[in-house]
Amino acid sequence: MQKVPVITIDGPSGAGKGTIAQMLAARLGWRLLDSGALYRALAYAAGQAGVSPEEEDSLAALASRMNLEFRAGRVLLDGEDITDAIRTETVGNAASKIAAIPKVREALLAWQRAFARPPGLVADGRDMGSVVFPDAPVKIFLTASPEERAKRRYNQLKEKGIDVNVLELAEAIRERDARDRTRSIAPLKAPAAALEVDSTGRSIEEVFGQVMAKVEETLPDLKN
Ligand code: DC
Repeated sequence: MQKVPVITIDGPSGAGKGTIAQMLAARLGWRLLDSGALYRALAYAAGQAGVSPEEEDSLAALASRMNLEFRAGRVLLDGEDITDAIRTETVGNAASKIAAIPKVREALLAWQRAFARPPGLVADGRDMGSVVFPDAPVKIFLTASPEERAKRRYNQLKEKGIDVNVLELAEAIRERDARDRTRSIAPLKAPAAALEVDSTGRSIEEVFGQVMAKVEETLPDLKN
C-alpha cells in the first residue's frame, strides 16, 4: 500500500508506547503519529460542542471536520492548545467510548494514513499494525502488567499535578482496557507478526534497545 516505511507500536494504556514511539521517531528523524491524541481530541471537541457518545452521526461528522493540528509536540484544536486538557482520565475514558463507534474510526482513517510521509512514520495506538497500517514492515506490541501500568499512570498524573486515587485509577484502566479489547471494530490485539515486548519491571532504555534492535534487523538500510 504505502511506500513510506512505518513502524507501528500498539498496546494498552500505560505500557510505555508514547515514550518509546517518541524516542524512536527522534532517533530515526521520522514523523510521529499519536493516534490516541486524535480520539482524545475528538472526545474533547464533542464535550465542548455538547455532543454525547450516543450521537454517532454527529460524532462522525465532527471527526471529519475537526480542525486539528499537531505542531512541535503540541495538539491544537481550532488553534487552541489542548495538549494538557486531553490528558485527563475523563477524556481518556470518553475517547475509549467513542473509539468503539465504527463511523468514527472510519472518519479518522484517511487522516491517520496521511501521516505516512517520507522519510518514515512511527505510529502509536491500538490498531496501527492491524488496521491503519497493515503493511508496516515493523510492528511492535508493547504490554506491561495492569499493576505496573496503573502505577506509571498514577506517577505521570501526579507529576502533572493531577490528583487521583490509585485504586480508582487501576479500576478505570481495567475498564478501559476491557472496552478497547472487546469492541467489535479494530479491537486492541497483537497484530500478526508483531514483536511482543513486555515492559514490566524493565527500564525505558532496555525496552528501547530491544525495539531498536528489531528495527535495525528488519530495516538494515537505516544503519547507513
Ligand atoms: O493511547 P490513549 O490512552 O491516548 O488512547 C485513548 C483512547 O483512544 C483509548 O482508550 C482507545 C482509543 N484509541 C483507539 O481506539 N485506537 C487508537 N489507535 C488509539 C486510541
